[in-house]
Amino acid sequence: MSPVLDIRGLRVALRDGTRLVDDVSLHVDAGEIVGLVGESGSGKSMTAYAALGLFPTPHARIAGGEIRLDGTDLASLTPAAWRAVRGARIGMVFQDPSSFLDPLLPVGRQIAEAFYAHGQGREAPARVSALLEQVELPASAAARYPHELSGGQKQRVLIAAALAMRPALLIADEPTTALDVSVQAGILDLLKRLRADLGLAVLLITHDLGVIAQTCSRVYVMYAGQIVESAPTAALFRAPRHPYTLGLLASLLSPAVRQEALFSIPGTVPPARAMPDGCRFHPRCPLSLPDPCAARPPPLRAHGPGEDRCWRADEAATAWA
Ligand SMILES: Nc1ncnc2c1ncn2[C@@H]1O[C@H](COP(=O)(O)OP(=O)(O)O)[C@@H](O)[C@H]1O
Ligand SMILES: [Mg+2]
Repeated sequence: MSPVLDIRGLRVALRDGTRLVDDVSLHVDAGEIVGLVGESGSGKSMTAYAALGLFPTPHARIAGGEIRLDGTDLASLTPAAWRAVRGARIGMVFQDPSSFLDPLLPVGRQIAEAFYAHGQGREAPARVSALLEQVELPASAAARYPHELSGGQKQRVLIAAALAMRPALLIADEPTTALDVSVQAGILDLLKRLRADLGLAVLLITHDLGVIAQTCSRVYVMYAGQIVESAPTAALFRAPRHPYTLGLLASLLSPAVRQEALFSIPGTVPPARAMPDGCRFHPRCPLSLPDPCAARPPPLRAHGPGEDRCWRADEAATAWA
């Protein structure tokens, strides 16, 4: 069975050629929640925007690679054809639900928008009720205005709107980052239920490995525009192989334990215009060597069920064990 979403060798670049996403490959199968995790500025959102063919900045564009949805290469479609796919086959939810809702319209009307846009207005009221039930909101929520709903309820409304055309794929970019931890768990449980009930494929983007642990079967770790490690979630937590992953894992530990650990990562993600030579992570890496780490970029290499992009992955794995 081919994956629902299959991204191969994706490059996203600015007009001056600066690469924000550099040779990213990832796939999501039907009925699977896959995580894409990394610090802010890693290129996670740019990867998601590429799948939608829609960038918030006019300076960014797809500069190479393939984005296959159910086997069709989206990058080869006309803008109009891609727009049709975007609305119907891919649903998307973002971090801040408030900014995507019109404060002056009842939320039921906003969920119904998709049905009117696709000439299915007559079905709208029944379908909106069904969608609200799917996201565990009462049918009466349809008449509410955004300001009458909590942050978690608003995110449920946007998930309902994203599901209106029964997409095969949902891309959720930091969907719980703006929410309290208790509310966050409810949204993640909802995604898991939608996966199970609808066979939905979900690409879940987050900076928080804790979210990944609760939700995803597989995970891709992204750093400075590249995938640096991928693995089944259980394997990644049990036996991480990239020092950056070790750093992300260490950030979940209590401060006292973390102080002892080798792997708290200093500094921040380098800007796209100033990528270090060699391994992009080497200036922040406690295991880096002048050669090869600072000299040559490591290739992405298969390891067991996963892959890693590190010259010293064996040493990193041993250091963590
Ligand atoms: N218009 C732009 N011009 C220059 N750099 C940009 C622009 N938009 C985003 N970037 C850069 O692209 C990189 C990836 O950003 P993004 O995909 O939003 O990261 P993430 O979602 O992982 O936090 C970052 O280094 C960011 O600074
Ligand atoms: Mg982002």
